[in-house]
Amino acid sequence: MVVAQPVSAPLTRAAIFLVVTINPGSDNQAAVRSFCADLPGLIRAVDFRDLEARLSCVMGIGSDAWDKLFGDPRPAELHPFREIRAGPRHAVSTPGDLLFHIRAKRMDLCFEMATQIMARLGAAVSTVDEVHGFRYFDDRDLLGFVDGTENPRGEAVIDAAIIGEEDAAFVGGSYVIVQKYLHDLDGWNALSTEAQERIIGRAKLSDVELDDAIKPTSAHNALTTITENGKEFQIVRDNMPFGRAGSGEFGTYFIGYCRTPRVTEQMIENMFVGRPPGNYDRLLDFSRAVTGTLFFVPSATFLESVNDDAPAAAIRDPESTLEPAPPGPGAPDGSLAVGSLKGENRHE
Ligand code: HEM
Repeated sequence: MVVAQPVSAPLTRAAIFLVVTINPGSDNQAAVRSFCADLPGLIRAVDFRDLEARLSCVMGIGSDAWDKLFGDPRPAELHPFREIRAGPRHAVSTPGDLLFHIRAKRMDLCFEMATQIMARLGAAVSTVDEVHGFRYFDDRDLLGFVDGTENPRGEAVIDAAIIGEEDAAFVGGSYVIVQKYLHDLDGWNALSTEAQERIIGRAKLSDVELDDAIKPTSAHNALTTITENGKEFQIVRDNMPFGRAGSGEFGTYFIGYCRTPRVTEQMIENMFVGRPPGNYDRLLDFSRAVTGTLFFVPSATFLESVNDDAPAAAIRDPESTLEPAPPGPGAPDGSLAVGSLKGENRHE
């Protein structure tokens, strides 16, 4: 059975987003490869310290790192994040070989997990970014709006985020894009609540979507709605606020999982360039992307099968490895068992 990483773990009170690059040299690559198979054991050790805290850790691998670590076969749509420039708006593309998305109800567990990961990886990697996110009041971002409402739920999560038959060697995988945004909170707070609501497309207090009659086509939730032939293509988000009040830093760490990076990329293009071009997301007049990286999230089964002798231990023949998923939306360990994808064309 192919088991996905816990992409769809429920929203938690705390998260750490850790992005590292692998230092040059085959020794360092070998260290990372052997780490892959050890990660589940590390997660179990930290998780068991408080099972109620629902610790989860997703590991993503960047495009260049994939070639160095595993070579062929490669995930069909893995490539470096493509930057976008449109007027003053810039979706930057920044380095990152490995992403660790660590979530739990308690920050101490997240911190312990990150510490254990770094202790194990040691000198093999250099950290390029580490963000500690917190849940803010009623799941709001620091702009004051509830963030996450229209996320897919239940079975729709698997449909949106987990690769099926379309890339048979990587069934159970996912693609994740992260962007760290910094906000001009003074500028934002100088707007009226009504002006803010028209930018987001939802009412600030009640979180109810604005009526189409008053919602501009440039609203954030309009530009990030992608439909093709009547079908909506969704992503699974788990954005987190972060900041340093003493330094005037207020941010949103955007993280979006999808079974193809094209959907998330289209959303970003709509936001930055506009749909039609020029009709861009006014959120970007008050928010600046300072990072942008795309990672592939292999299945947990893939990670566990990595070892030094057989670095490309991909699941080459999904027909022989897929088994029916256990009943219910996920496996008992909280990860998604995606055996049920067998034989189904989930991208129609
Ligand atoms: C400054 C960064 C961002 C902030 C503060 C932000 C905030 C929000 C808020 C408040 C909502 C409405 C509630 C909800 O449905 O979750 C929303 C919706 C959404 N956002 Fe963002 N967002 C940001 C960046 C992004 C990016 C970069 C993407 C895509 C690449 C994105 C995709 C979406 C989607 C798909 C929805 C749901 C649209 C719908 O179906 O109604 N967001 N966001």
